Amino acid sequence: MHDAAFAACGIAARYEAWDVAPAGLAAAVARLRSDATVLGANVTVPHKQSVVGLVDVLGGEAAAIGAVNTLHMEEGRLVGTNTDAEGFLRSLTEAGLDPSGKVVVLIGAGGAARAVAWALLHAGADEVRVTNRTDSAARALVDDLRPAASFGRRPGRPERRSRLRAVERDDDQVSRGVDWWVNATSVGMARGDAVPDETPLPATAFSGRAGERAPAAAAIDLVYRPRRTRFLREAAEAGLVTVDGLGMLLYQGAAAFESWNGREAPIAAMRAALEGALAAEVRT
Ligand code: ATR
Repeated sequence: MHDAAFAACGIAARYEAWDVAPAGLAAAVARLRSDATVLGANVTVPHKQSVVGLVDVLGGEAAAIGAVNTLHMEEGRLVGTNTDAEGFLRSLTEAGLDPSGKVVVLIGAGGAARAVAWALLHAGADEVRVTNRTDSAARALVDDLRPAASFGRRPGRPERRSRLRAVERDDDQVSRGVDWWVNATSVGMARGDAVPDETPLPATAFSGRAGERAPAAAAIDLVYRPRRTRFLREAAEAGLVTVDGLGMLLYQGAAAFESWNGREAPIAAMRAALEGALAAEVRT
């Protein structure tokens, strides 16, 4: 995706994957800082939260989200930003979905889930219910993002607060009165060539009790490899609208490209490269 973008814009750069263990993160960041030929970087699983303490400045909503996925140098300082929230919202817009007024079950509590929670609250979701394998991480997310739940409060405007809370996975709140389910865990993601037949939520959650499900219910998966996960397949079988992870991957990448190069990203070239790579890698 990024090499295609560089080629489309005539920028002499290449995107490299660095496999960095948690113990090596600080050294990898130091290497980025000291190499004047580096335009910037992305940071992914499992470093998005730990890298927060290694940058000089947090830009945009990275501080509120508590996670960084993009780095660039600015006047000699290393800036950490988060393009996941913007990527998520742009992918929803592309799919014709508007979070305003929605009740959303968010599965996961890592860096990506934090960005999604922030985005949903910022875009006026009515309620975000966070559920995670490790309950304490869901509660920490809720505590940290609580200020984001009052985005709607503006002087002179009627008060609007979104609800943000942690729910346990066997709680009926993961299915009752829910408009959208979002998978922000890595469950269902291919490892190498192996595509796991796993889902983070039993399909029964989608049906709920008869007549209780919202008419425009949707399932959104951040996993993009494979594009059609078990989570999305079961949601489609239950009659839900489904959105796969390609759009968020594309748009978080486009926003990162813009922060590194100070120019608009070539979306069509990036999308074509992504679709080609994913189709070649894993049959979906
Ligand atoms: P990211 O930055 O992409 O969000 P992360 O911070 O490592 O990655 O978070 C991964 C998320 O997937 C977490 O919510 C994690 O749950 P835990 O907090 O319990 O670790 C979730 N996850 C990963 N593997 C899982 C599995 N096999 N079953 C359930 N949840 C899983």
